[in-house]
Amino acid sequence: MKKKIVFATNNTHKLEEVSAILGDKIELLSMKDINCKADIPETADTLEGNALIKARFIFENYHSDCFADDTGLEVEALEGAPGVYSARYAGDTHNSEANMKKLLHDMEGIENRKAQFRTVFALIVDGKEHLFEGTVKGEIVKNRKGTSGFGYDPIFVPEGYTQTFAEMGNELKNKISHRAVATNKLCKFLMK
Ligand code: IMP
Repeated sequence: MKKKIVFATNNTHKLEEVSAILGDKIELLSMKDINCKADIPETADTLEGNALIKARFIFENYHSDCFADDTGLEVEALEGAPGVYSARYAGDTHNSEANMKKLLHDMEGIENRKAQFRTVFALIVDGKEHLFEGTVKGEIVKNRKGTSGFGYDPIFVPEGYTQTFAEMGNELKNKISHRAVATNKLCKFLMK
């Protein structure tokens, strides 16, 4: 029988990204597929902590193998901020424009523009927990450029490239991104 695993998300973009790598060897289920309507509170102060909260919630309530993710943008000169608070940096409305505006404001006059996106997956298989990480290093530019992607994409240029994530388009971004690196590690483990 085909192995089933729950991805603790309803984000269709993330589900598609992971299922494209997993192929048809493992059946991926979303929270909707298992009829879970919970809005799991992300109350930890690390990406690892939040990913584990979500995975443990599914494991404890649905007794299924599962995994969850959390991502943040870590700016060197801001000691890793916005980090785990990336989605709500400018407030609880989770507004990307406001988040970018606040970040550019906080970085005014700062020469060190180094930053990285970091994704963490927490996986629970047969009751055992595993963590996988993917990072992409780069720089925060001073003005927004490009229209594709989401979140902080218009102000992040990955190392080795001249375009922001939002200028390069999703096809290239999804090959080199933090999430792609972490997803590949997770899928390699699941397909062992
Ligand atoms: P999540 O954990 O994937 O929901 O990401 C948390 C927040 O990080 C999002 O709301 C975005 O602001 C930011 N973020 C995550 N991944 C990306 C990305 O690939 N590009 C730009 N921003 C991202």
